[in-house]
Amino acid sequence: MDNFNFYSPTEFVFGKGRENECGAYVKKFGGSKVLIHFGGGSVVRSGLLDRVKTSLQAEGILFEELGGVKPNPRDTLVYEGIRLCKDKGIDFILAVGGGSVIDSAKAIAVGVPYDGDFWDFYSGKAQIRAALPVATVLTIAAAGSEGSGDSVITKEDGMWKRGAGSEHMRPKFSVMNPELTCTLPAYQTACGATDIMAHVFERYFTNTTEVEITDRLCEAVLMTMVKETPRVIEDPNNYQARANIMWAGTVAHTNLVGVGRAQDWNSHGIEHELSGLYDCAHGAGLAVIMPAWMEYVMPHNPMRFAQMANRVFGVAMNYENPTDTAKKGITAFREFLRKIGMPINFAELGAKEEDIPTLVEKFGLGETGKTGGFVQLTSESVRAILENAVKASL
Ligand code: NZQ
Ligand code: ZN
Repeated sequence: MDNFNFYSPTEFVFGKGRENECGAYVKKFGGSKVLIHFGGGSVVRSGLLDRVKTSLQAEGILFEELGGVKPNPRDTLVYEGIRLCKDKGIDFILAVGGGSVIDSAKAIAVGVPYDGDFWDFYSGKAQIRAALPVATVLTIAAAGSEGSGDSVITKEDGMWKRGAGSEHMRPKFSVMNPELTCTLPAYQTACGATDIMAHVFERYFTNTTEVEITDRLCEAVLMTMVKETPRVIEDPNNYQARANIMWAGTVAHTNLVGVGRAQDWNSHGIEHELSGLYDCAHGAGLAVIMPAWMEYVMPHNPMRFAQMANRVFGVAMNYENPTDTAKKGITAFREFLRKIGMPINFAELGAKEEDIPTLVEKFGLGETGKTGGFVQLTSESVRAILENAVKASL
Protein backbone atom coordinates (compact mmCIF):
# COMPACT_ATOMS: atom_id res chain seq x y z
CA MET A 1 0.00 0.00 0.00
CA ASP A 2 1.25 3.52 -0.86
CA ASN A 3 1.27 6.53 1.47
CA PHE A 4 -1.88 8.61 1.29
CA ASN A 5 -3.97 11.45 2.73
CA PHE A 6 -7.72 10.98 2.89
CA TYR A 7 -9.74 14.17 3.16
CA SER A 8 -13.50 13.93 2.81
CA PRO A 9 -15.02 16.75 4.84
CA THR A 10 -18.51 16.73 3.28
CA GLU A 11 -21.37 16.27 5.76
CA PHE A 12 -23.73 13.68 4.26
CA VAL A 13 -27.34 14.19 5.31
CA PHE A 14 -28.97 10.91 4.33
CA GLY A 15 -32.54 9.61 4.37
CA LYS A 16 -36.21 10.30 3.81
CA GLY A 17 -37.35 13.92 3.88
CA ARG A 18 -33.90 15.32 4.67
CA GLU A 19 -34.19 18.00 1.94
CA ASN A 20 -36.46 19.85 4.33
CA GLU A 21 -33.37 20.54 6.47
CA CYS A 22 -31.50 22.37 3.68
CA GLY A 23 -32.02 25.81 5.18
CA ALA A 24 -30.58 24.78 8.55
CA TYR A 25 -27.51 23.29 6.90
CA VAL A 26 -26.91 26.32 4.67
CA LYS A 27 -27.02 28.42 7.84
CA LYS A 28 -24.64 26.06 9.63
CA PHE A 29 -22.10 26.51 6.84
CA GLY A 30 -22.43 30.30 6.77
CA GLY A 31 -24.60 30.93 3.70
CA SER A 32 -26.86 34.00 3.73
CA LYS A 33 -27.60 34.57 0.03
CA VAL A 34 -27.83 31.40 -2.02
CA LEU A 35 -27.82 30.57 -5.71
CA ILE A 36 -30.09 27.56 -6.24
CA HIS A 37 -28.79 25.83 -9.35
CA PHE A 38 -30.79 23.11 -11.13
CA GLY A 39 -31.28 21.26 -14.40
CA GLY A 40 -33.88 20.82 -17.09
CA GLY A 41 -36.94 20.63 -14.88
CA SER A 42 -37.12 17.27 -13.06
CA VAL A 43 -36.78 19.03 -9.70
CA VAL A 44 -39.57 21.45 -10.60
CA ARG A 45 -41.93 18.63 -11.65
CA SER A 46 -41.20 16.55 -8.54
CA GLY A 47 -41.85 19.48 -6.19
CA LEU A 48 -38.33 19.21 -4.76
CA LEU A 49 -37.38 22.76 -5.72
CA ASP A 50 -40.36 24.14 -3.82
CA ARG A 51 -39.47 22.13 -0.73
CA VAL A 52 -35.89 23.41 -0.86
CA LYS A 53 -37.07 27.01 -1.20
CA THR A 54 -39.50 26.61 1.70
CA SER A 55 -36.69 25.27 3.84
CA LEU A 56 -34.44 28.25 2.99
CA GLN A 57 -37.26 30.72 3.63
CA ALA A 58 -37.91 29.16 7.04
CA GLU A 59 -34.36 30.11 8.02
CA GLY A 60 -34.62 33.61 6.53
CA ILE A 61 -32.08 32.81 3.82
CA LEU A 62 -32.33 34.83 0.59
CA PHE A 63 -31.89 33.10 -2.75
CA GLU A 64 -31.68 33.50 -6.52
CA GLU A 65 -32.40 30.70 -9.01
CA LEU A 66 -30.58 29.51 -12.11
CA GLY A 67 -31.97 26.45 -13.91
CA GLY A 68 -31.28 24.94 -17.30
CA VAL A 69 -28.17 22.83 -16.67
CA LYS A 70 -27.95 20.19 -19.42
CA PRO A 71 -26.41 16.74 -19.03
CA ASN A 72 -22.73 17.21 -20.01
CA PRO A 73 -22.97 20.72 -18.50
CA ARG A 74 -21.87 23.62 -20.68
CA ASP A 75 -19.46 26.47 -20.06
CA THR A 76 -22.02 28.97 -21.37
CA LEU A 77 -24.35 28.55 -18.36
CA VAL A 78 -21.35 28.64 -16.02
CA TYR A 79 -20.47 32.13 -17.31
CA GLU A 80 -24.07 33.19 -16.73
CA GLY A 81 -23.95 31.80 -13.20
CA ILE A 82 -20.69 33.60 -12.40
CA ARG A 83 -22.17 36.91 -13.60
CA LEU A 84 -25.34 36.35 -11.59
CA CYS A 85 -23.41 35.56 -8.40
CA LYS A 86 -21.27 38.68 -8.76
CA ASP A 87 -24.24 40.95 -9.55
CA LYS A 88 -26.37 39.66 -6.68
CA GLY A 89 -23.70 39.20 -4.01
CA ILE A 90 -24.25 35.45 -3.70
CA ASP A 91 -22.19 33.77 -0.97
CA PHE A 92 -23.29 30.10 -1.22
CA ILE A 93 -24.26 27.78 -4.10
CA LEU A 94 -26.81 25.00 -3.65
CA ALA A 95 -26.92 22.46 -6.47
CA VAL A 96 -30.26 20.62 -6.66
CA GLY A 97 -29.94 17.78 -9.15
CA GLY A 98 -27.46 15.28 -10.54
CA GLY A 99 -23.76 15.29 -11.36
CA SER A 100 -24.22 17.78 -14.18
CA VAL A 101 -25.89 20.35 -11.95
CA ILE A 102 -23.35 19.80 -9.18
CA ASP A 103 -20.39 20.11 -11.58
CA SER A 104 -21.84 23.30 -13.05
CA ALA A 105 -22.30 24.68 -9.51
CA LYS A 106 -18.68 23.84 -8.66
CA ALA A 107 -17.48 25.61 -11.81
CA ILE A 108 -19.46 28.73 -10.91
CA ALA A 109 -18.10 28.52 -7.38
CA VAL A 110 -14.46 28.58 -8.52
CA GLY A 111 -15.17 31.18 -11.21
CA VAL A 112 -16.61 33.83 -8.88
CA PRO A 113 -13.44 34.66 -6.89
CA TYR A 114 -11.17 34.32 -9.96
CA ASP A 115 -10.28 37.34 -12.08
CA GLY A 116 -9.57 35.35 -15.24
CA ASP A 117 -11.65 32.90 -17.30
CA PHE A 118 -12.89 29.94 -15.21
CA TRP A 119 -12.03 27.65 -18.16
CA ASP A 120 -8.34 28.17 -17.23
CA PHE A 121 -8.92 25.61 -14.44
CA TYR A 122 -10.32 23.04 -16.89
CA SER A 123 -7.69 23.60 -19.58
CA GLY A 124 -4.91 23.18 -17.01
CA LYS A 125 -3.77 26.82 -17.34
CA ALA A 126 -4.42 27.78 -13.72
CA GLN A 127 -4.74 26.19 -10.27
CA ILE A 128 -7.88 26.60 -8.16
CA ARG A 129 -7.08 28.66 -5.06
CA ALA A 130 -10.53 29.65 -3.79
CA ALA A 131 -14.23 28.95 -4.26
CA LEU A 132 -17.60 29.93 -2.93
CA PRO A 133 -18.98 27.20 -0.67
CA VAL A 134 -21.04 24.59 -2.55
CA ALA A 135 -23.61 22.12 -1.24
CA THR A 136 -25.89 19.64 -2.97
CA VAL A 137 -29.29 18.01 -2.89
CA LEU A 138 -28.65 14.89 -4.94
CA THR A 139 -31.32 13.44 -7.25
CA ILE A 140 -29.42 10.65 -9.04
CA ALA A 141 -26.91 8.09 -7.79
CA ALA A 142 -24.17 8.22 -10.40
CA ALA A 143 -21.26 10.64 -10.73
CA GLY A 144 -20.33 10.80 -7.05
CA SER A 145 -19.87 14.57 -7.41
CA GLU A 146 -21.79 15.04 -4.14
CA GLY A 147 -18.66 13.86 -2.32
CA SER A 148 -15.86 14.52 -4.79
CA GLY A 149 -13.54 17.44 -5.39
CA ASP A 150 -14.01 17.14 -9.15
CA SER A 151 -16.08 18.83 -11.81
CA VAL A 152 -16.42 18.08 -15.53
CA ILE A 153 -17.58 20.82 -17.94
CA THR A 154 -18.06 20.87 -21.71
CA LYS A 155 -16.89 23.89 -23.69
CA GLU A 156 -19.68 24.44 -26.18
CA ASP A 157 -17.33 25.80 -28.82
CA GLY A 158 -15.80 22.54 -30.10
CA MET A 159 -17.55 20.40 -27.43
CA TRP A 160 -14.35 19.95 -25.42
CA LYS A 161 -15.22 18.00 -22.26
CA ARG A 162 -12.62 18.55 -19.55
CA GLY A 163 -12.31 18.09 -15.78
CA ALA A 164 -10.86 20.11 -12.92
CA GLY A 165 -10.20 19.02 -9.36
CA SER A 166 -9.57 20.79 -6.07
CA GLU A 167 -10.34 20.35 -2.40
CA HIS A 168 -12.02 23.78 -2.65
CA MET A 169 -14.78 22.15 -4.71
CA ARG A 170 -15.75 19.50 -2.15
CA PRO A 171 -19.36 20.12 -1.11
CA LYS A 172 -19.86 21.40 2.43
CA PHE A 173 -22.90 19.15 2.78
CA SER A 174 -24.87 16.83 0.54
CA VAL A 175 -28.49 15.92 1.17
CA MET A 176 -29.14 12.38 -0.01
CA ASN A 177 -32.75 11.24 0.07
CA PRO A 178 -33.02 7.95 -1.87
CA GLU A 179 -36.74 8.63 -2.44
CA LEU A 180 -35.77 11.48 -4.76
CA THR A 181 -34.23 8.97 -7.17
CA CYS A 182 -37.49 6.99 -7.59
CA THR A 183 -38.62 9.31 -10.42
CA LEU A 184 -35.57 8.46 -12.55
CA PRO A 185 -36.27 6.75 -15.86
CA ALA A 186 -34.80 3.20 -15.95
CA TYR A 187 -32.21 4.27 -18.52
CA GLN A 188 -30.84 7.04 -16.28
CA THR A 189 -30.84 4.70 -13.29
CA ALA A 190 -28.77 2.21 -15.29
CA CYS A 191 -26.41 4.91 -16.60
CA GLY A 192 -25.81 5.95 -13.00
CA ALA A 193 -25.20 2.38 -11.87
CA THR A 194 -22.66 1.88 -14.65
CA ASP A 195 -20.82 5.06 -13.68
CA ILE A 196 -20.67 3.95 -10.05
CA MET A 197 -19.17 0.60 -11.05
CA ALA A 198 -16.72 2.32 -13.40
CA HIS A 199 -15.50 4.57 -10.56
CA VAL A 200 -14.60 1.43 -8.65
CA PHE A 201 -13.00 -0.37 -11.60
CA GLU A 202 -10.81 2.68 -12.34
CA ARG A 203 -9.33 2.15 -8.87
CA TYR A 204 -9.48 -1.64 -8.68
CA PHE A 205 -7.20 -2.30 -11.65
CA THR A 206 -3.93 -1.19 -10.12
CA ASN A 207 -0.26 -2.10 -10.15
CA THR A 208 0.03 -1.44 -6.41
CA THR A 209 0.31 -4.69 -4.44
CA GLU A 210 -0.83 -5.57 -0.89
CA VAL A 211 -4.05 -3.56 -1.04
CA GLU A 212 -6.38 -6.10 0.55
CA ILE A 213 -8.55 -3.60 2.39
CA THR A 214 -9.28 -1.41 -0.64
CA ASP A 215 -9.70 -4.46 -2.90
CA ARG A 216 -12.36 -5.76 -0.53
CA LEU A 217 -14.07 -2.37 -0.23
CA CYS A 218 -14.13 -2.12 -4.03
CA GLU A 219 -15.63 -5.59 -4.30
CA ALA A 220 -18.28 -4.75 -1.71
CA VAL A 221 -19.44 -1.76 -3.76
CA LEU A 222 -19.41 -3.74 -7.01
CA MET A 223 -21.34 -6.66 -5.49
CA THR A 224 -23.89 -4.24 -4.07
CA MET A 225 -24.42 -2.75 -7.51
CA VAL A 226 -24.76 -6.18 -9.14
CA LYS A 227 -27.40 -7.13 -6.60
CA GLU A 228 -29.36 -3.89 -6.23
CA THR A 229 -29.44 -2.42 -9.76
CA PRO A 230 -31.74 -5.07 -11.28
CA ARG A 231 -34.03 -4.68 -8.25
CA VAL A 232 -34.61 -0.97 -8.92
CA ILE A 233 -34.92 -1.47 -12.67
CA GLU A 234 -37.70 -3.94 -11.89
CA ASP A 235 -39.27 -1.86 -9.12
CA PRO A 236 -38.31 1.83 -9.34
CA ASN A 237 -39.90 2.51 -5.94
CA ASN A 238 -37.80 0.01 -4.00
CA TYR A 239 -36.54 2.40 -1.32
CA GLN A 240 -34.05 0.04 0.30
CA ALA A 241 -32.38 -0.86 -2.99
CA ARG A 242 -32.33 2.84 -3.96
CA ALA A 243 -30.75 3.64 -0.59
CA ASN A 244 -28.01 1.05 -0.99
CA ILE A 245 -27.24 2.27 -4.51
CA MET A 246 -27.17 5.90 -3.43
CA TRP A 247 -24.64 5.32 -0.70
CA ALA A 248 -22.62 3.00 -2.97
CA GLY A 249 -22.34 5.88 -5.45
CA THR A 250 -20.82 8.14 -2.83
CA VAL A 251 -18.53 5.49 -1.36
CA ALA A 252 -17.31 4.67 -4.88
CA HIS A 253 -16.06 8.19 -5.51
CA THR A 254 -14.97 9.90 -2.28
CA ASN A 255 -11.75 7.91 -2.86
CA LEU A 256 -12.27 5.82 0.27
CA VAL A 257 -11.94 2.69 -1.88
CA GLY A 258 -8.99 4.04 -3.88
CA VAL A 259 -6.52 5.39 -1.35
CA GLY A 260 -3.00 3.96 -1.15
CA ARG A 261 -3.01 2.58 -4.67
CA ALA A 262 -2.18 3.76 -8.19
CA GLN A 263 -5.37 4.35 -10.20
CA ASP A 264 -6.18 4.22 -13.91
CA TRP A 265 -8.91 6.60 -15.24
CA ASN A 266 -8.18 6.02 -18.92
CA SER A 267 -11.68 4.62 -19.57
CA HIS A 268 -13.09 7.88 -18.18
CA GLY A 269 -10.73 9.91 -20.34
CA ILE A 270 -11.76 8.02 -23.47
CA GLU A 271 -15.46 8.15 -22.54
CA HIS A 272 -15.35 11.92 -22.06
CA GLU A 273 -14.46 12.19 -25.75
CA LEU A 274 -17.56 10.14 -26.61
CA SER A 275 -19.97 12.16 -24.46
CA GLY A 276 -18.24 15.34 -25.71
CA LEU A 277 -18.70 14.37 -29.37
CA TYR A 278 -22.13 12.71 -29.22
CA ASP A 279 -23.61 14.37 -26.11
CA CYS A 280 -24.55 10.87 -24.87
CA ALA A 281 -24.97 9.97 -21.19
CA HIS A 282 -21.61 9.44 -19.46
CA GLY A 283 -22.71 6.09 -17.98
CA ALA A 284 -23.83 4.78 -21.37
CA GLY A 285 -20.48 5.75 -22.88
CA LEU A 286 -18.71 3.92 -20.05
CA ALA A 287 -20.80 0.78 -20.66
CA VAL A 288 -19.30 0.68 -24.14
CA ILE A 289 -15.73 1.72 -23.28
CA MET A 290 -15.00 0.05 -19.93
CA PRO A 291 -15.28 -3.61 -21.03
CA ALA A 292 -13.46 -2.76 -24.28
CA TRP A 293 -10.62 -1.29 -22.20
CA MET A 294 -10.69 -4.38 -19.95
CA GLU A 295 -10.21 -6.66 -22.96
CA TYR A 296 -7.26 -4.58 -24.11
CA VAL A 297 -5.39 -4.40 -20.77
CA MET A 298 -6.35 -7.79 -19.27
CA PRO A 299 -3.19 -9.63 -20.55
CA HIS A 300 -1.13 -7.25 -18.35
CA ASN A 301 -2.45 -8.98 -15.21
CA PRO A 302 -4.97 -11.76 -15.90
CA MET A 303 -4.98 -12.80 -12.23
CA ARG A 304 -6.38 -9.41 -11.13
CA PHE A 305 -9.20 -9.74 -13.65
CA ALA A 306 -9.77 -13.35 -12.60
CA GLN A 307 -10.04 -12.20 -8.98
CA MET A 308 -12.70 -9.65 -9.97
CA ALA A 309 -14.54 -12.27 -12.06
CA ASN A 310 -14.56 -14.72 -9.20
CA ARG A 311 -15.36 -12.42 -6.30
CA VAL A 312 -17.78 -10.01 -7.98
CA PHE A 313 -19.52 -12.09 -10.64
CA GLY A 314 -19.10 -15.55 -9.04
CA VAL A 315 -17.16 -17.02 -11.99
CA ALA A 316 -15.44 -20.27 -10.94
CA MET A 317 -11.68 -19.71 -10.63
CA ASN A 318 -9.61 -21.66 -13.14
CA TYR A 319 -6.17 -21.65 -11.47
CA GLU A 320 -4.59 -23.45 -14.44
CA ASN A 321 -5.86 -20.79 -16.81
CA PRO A 322 -6.68 -17.46 -15.07
CA THR A 323 -7.00 -15.78 -18.48
CA ASP A 324 -10.07 -17.93 -19.11
CA THR A 325 -11.61 -16.81 -15.80
CA ALA A 326 -10.70 -13.20 -16.59
CA LYS A 327 -12.40 -13.34 -20.00
CA LYS A 328 -15.52 -14.84 -18.44
CA GLY A 329 -15.56 -11.97 -15.93
CA ILE A 330 -15.52 -9.37 -18.71
CA THR A 331 -18.34 -11.23 -20.46
CA ALA A 332 -20.29 -11.37 -17.19
CA PHE A 333 -19.88 -7.59 -16.85
CA ARG A 334 -21.20 -7.06 -20.40
CA GLU A 335 -24.12 -9.42 -19.72
CA PHE A 336 -24.94 -7.42 -16.61
CA LEU A 337 -24.84 -4.17 -18.61
CA ARG A 338 -27.12 -5.65 -21.25
CA LYS A 339 -29.52 -6.88 -18.54
CA ILE A 340 -29.89 -3.39 -17.07
CA GLY A 341 -30.50 -1.90 -20.52
CA MET A 342 -27.13 -0.37 -21.33
CA PRO A 343 -25.55 -0.27 -24.80
CA ILE A 344 -22.47 -2.48 -25.16
CA ASN A 345 -21.07 -1.37 -28.53
CA PHE A 346 -20.69 1.67 -30.77
CA ALA A 347 -23.83 0.98 -32.81
CA GLU A 348 -26.03 0.61 -29.73
CA LEU A 349 -24.66 3.88 -28.34
CA GLY A 350 -25.16 5.71 -31.63
CA ALA A 351 -21.39 6.19 -32.09
CA LYS A 352 -19.74 5.83 -35.48
CA GLU A 353 -16.68 3.81 -36.39
CA GLU A 354 -15.58 6.50 -38.85
CA ASP A 355 -15.25 8.95 -35.94
CA ILE A 356 -12.47 6.89 -34.32
CA PRO A 357 -9.66 9.09 -35.73
CA THR A 358 -11.41 12.21 -34.35
CA LEU A 359 -11.89 10.59 -30.94
CA VAL A 360 -8.23 9.54 -30.81
CA GLU A 361 -7.09 12.99 -31.86
CA LYS A 362 -9.28 14.74 -29.28
CA PHE A 363 -7.95 12.40 -26.58
CA GLY A 364 -4.74 14.23 -27.39
CA LEU A 365 -1.77 11.88 -27.01
CA GLY A 366 -0.31 12.68 -30.42
CA GLU A 367 2.20 10.36 -32.12
CA THR A 368 4.43 9.65 -29.15
CA GLY A 369 2.49 10.58 -26.01
CA LYS A 370 1.48 8.06 -23.35
CA THR A 371 -1.02 8.09 -20.50
CA GLY A 372 -0.28 6.76 -17.04
CA GLY A 373 -2.39 4.06 -15.48
CA PHE A 374 -2.66 0.29 -15.10
CA VAL A 375 -1.36 -0.03 -18.66
CA GLN A 376 0.15 3.01 -20.38
CA LEU A 377 -1.80 3.86 -23.49
CA THR A 378 -0.60 5.38 -26.75
CA SER A 379 -2.83 6.74 -29.51
CA GLU A 380 -2.57 3.29 -31.10
CA SER A 381 -3.90 1.64 -27.93
CA VAL A 382 -6.79 4.09 -27.71
CA ARG A 383 -7.65 3.24 -31.31
CA ALA A 384 -7.53 -0.50 -30.47
CA ILE A 385 -9.83 -0.01 -27.46
CA LEU A 386 -12.32 1.94 -29.58
CA GLU A 387 -12.18 -0.83 -32.18
CA ASN A 388 -12.95 -3.39 -29.44
CA ALA A 389 -15.94 -1.21 -28.56
CA VAL A 390 -17.14 -1.26 -32.18
CA LYS A 391 -16.92 -5.08 -32.35
CA ALA A 392 -18.34 -5.90 -28.90
CA SER A 393 -21.18 -8.42 -28.86
CA LEU A 394 -22.65 -11.12 -26.64
O1 NZQ B 1 -31.96 18.07 -15.93
P1 NZQ B 1 -33.03 17.31 -15.23
O2 NZQ B 1 -34.40 17.68 -15.67
O3 NZQ B 1 -32.88 17.36 -13.74
O4 NZQ B 1 -32.89 15.76 -15.70
C1 NZQ B 1 -31.76 14.96 -15.39
C2 NZQ B 1 -30.91 14.66 -16.61
O5 NZQ B 1 -31.67 14.69 -17.79
C3 NZQ B 1 -32.27 13.59 -15.03
N1 NZQ B 1 -32.55 13.44 -13.61
C4 NZQ B 1 -31.71 13.63 -12.57
N2 NZQ B 1 -32.32 13.30 -11.43
C5 NZQ B 1 -33.57 12.93 -11.74
C6 NZQ B 1 -33.74 13.03 -13.13
N3 NZQ B 1 -34.90 12.70 -13.76
C7 NZQ B 1 -35.91 12.30 -12.99
N4 NZQ B 1 -35.84 12.15 -11.65
C8 NZQ B 1 -34.67 12.46 -10.99
N5 NZQ B 1 -34.60 12.29 -9.66
O6 NZQ B 1 -31.19 12.70 -15.34
C9 NZQ B 1 -30.46 13.22 -16.42
C10 NZQ B 1 -28.99 13.07 -16.14
O7 NZQ B 1 -28.56 13.91 -15.10
P2 NZQ B 1 -27.01 14.20 -14.89
O8 NZQ B 1 -26.88 15.18 -13.80
O9 NZQ B 1 -26.38 14.54 -16.20
O10 NZQ B 1 -26.47 12.76 -14.44
P3 NZQ B 1 -25.16 12.30 -13.72
O11 NZQ B 1 -25.30 12.45 -12.26
O12 NZQ B 1 -24.86 10.98 -14.26
O13 NZQ B 1 -24.03 13.34 -14.15
C11 NZQ B 1 -23.30 13.16 -15.32
C12 NZQ B 1 -22.19 14.19 -15.43
O14 NZQ B 1 -21.24 14.03 -14.37
C13 NZQ B 1 -19.93 13.94 -14.91
C14 NZQ B 1 -20.17 13.26 -16.23
O15 NZQ B 1 -19.08 13.36 -17.09
C15 NZQ B 1 -21.41 13.98 -16.72
O16 NZQ B 1 -21.07 15.22 -17.31
N6 NZQ B 1 -19.04 13.28 -13.94
C16 NZQ B 1 -18.67 13.98 -12.85
C17 NZQ B 1 -17.81 13.47 -11.90
C18 NZQ B 1 -17.41 14.26 -10.71
N7 NZQ B 1 -17.75 15.53 -10.68
O17 NZQ B 1 -16.78 13.77 -9.78
C19 NZQ B 1 -17.21 12.14 -12.05
C20 NZQ B 1 -17.87 11.30 -13.08
O18 NZQ B 1 -16.96 10.32 -13.52
C21 NZQ B 1 -18.42 12.02 -14.26
O19 NZQ B 1 -17.43 12.26 -15.24
ZN1 ZN C 1 -17.80 8.61 -14.09
